Amino acid sequence: MTRLQTPLCALLGIRIPILLAGMAAGPCTPELVAAVSCAGGLGVFGATGMTTTALERDIERARELGATAIGVNVQITHPNAPRTDPATLANALVDVRRALDLPSPPPAAAPHPPAASARELIDAALAAGATVVTTGLGDPAEIRDLAAARGAPVLAMVASVADARRARASGADGIIAQGAEAGGHRATFDVPADGRVPLVGTLALVPRVVDAVDVPVVASGGIMDGRGLAAVLALGAQGASLGTRFLLATESAAAPIYRATLAGLPETATVVTDAVTGRPARWVRNALIDRLDAGPGHVGWGPQRHALDDIRTAAAVRGEPEYLPMLAGQGAGMAREQAAAAIVDEIADEAVAVMTRLGDLAR
Ligand SMILES: Cc1cc2nc3c(=O)[nH]c(=O)nc-3n(C[C@H](O)[C@H](O)[C@H](O)COP(=O)(O)O)c2cc1C
Repeated sequence: MTRLQTPLCALLGIRIPILLAGMAAGPCTPELVAAVSCAGGLGVFGATGMTTTALERDIERARELGATAIGVNVQITHPNAPRTDPATLANALVDVRRALDLPSPPPAAAPHPPAASARELIDAALAAGATVVTTGLGDPAEIRDLAAARGAPVLAMVASVADARRARASGADGIIAQGAEAGGHRATFDVPADGRVPLVGTLALVPRVVDAVDVPVVASGGIMDGRGLAAVLALGAQGASLGTRFLLATESAAAPIYRATLAGLPETATVVTDAVTGRPARWVRNALIDRLDAGPGHVGWGPQRHALDDIRTAAAVRGEPEYLPMLAGQGAGMAREQAAAAIVDEIADEAVAVMTRLGDLAR
């Protein structure tokens, strides 16, 4: 058994300081969450966009599969100002829609029922047995009281020292420092209207955050193997939160076309842009992302996502990688198909081997 315990492990009730990043929109199945937790790490559900009923059902299933430590992640977001109107956006996508045999302009969509709020999701998840809360994109103040009432620690993801201090002042029990390499949305709390956020790499961010707060820090972004885990432990982090590596886990719900795109992806093949959802995120570059990034502008967080609904569905059904939006980190090409437990074991064992080797170097 790997000896890699940090004080974070006691805080979260885990054995190995490896976290599955809660990833919204499907990848974090109950099987994936349970496999990571049963292997000694922390499995985390990406709850944003789920109904409370589906989240409760998934947590129950993870518990049936043997998970005791279970995390739930919510994105803390609010509406933001659109930078364009729906007609201009649709106009910029005429070619894309034609290639997918979709009509232009898009037919008026049926109104979307309001999604469950971050508070509703956290309340439901904690009642269903989640033991840890993680947040992304905004100040955890919004949900801190719910977690405190159930004795669940809150880890807030940030991308700057200023946001780390703010999260700590809001009662976060730990900080996830998200470097620029990370797949998914940038954790920056207040995104300027032009969508341009500072991109501070994991190597530069983690020690600054470690020095700035008095709670455990978890590193996130570009950590793909035991070398990465050892590196962030050396920077003062007490653990690592991985998203992209687990997308290729056998138990993840990532579609075959997504998996095939990530495997072997060059480190230069992703881009950060707010043009896809209305908030900056790191995506695999393809024809759709380049078209959006070229500048029609977004119609605001929420409406922008729905404006691409039929494109996303058609691209997924047809297995068309050039028109499917795919979130991924810069390290994607290092991921490979493996059972989640094997990923946790391999990363932990490799980190120990790296640290032992480094110890020998220093003697
Ligand atoms: C597909 C995908 C979805 C993500 N969804 C979320 C999310 O819902 N909430 C969140 O806080 N972070 C989300 N993230 C960001 C992760 O929390 C984490 O910062 C990132 O995956 C770490 O970098 P890595 O992908 O290089 O491991 C997502 C990342 C990916 C790749």
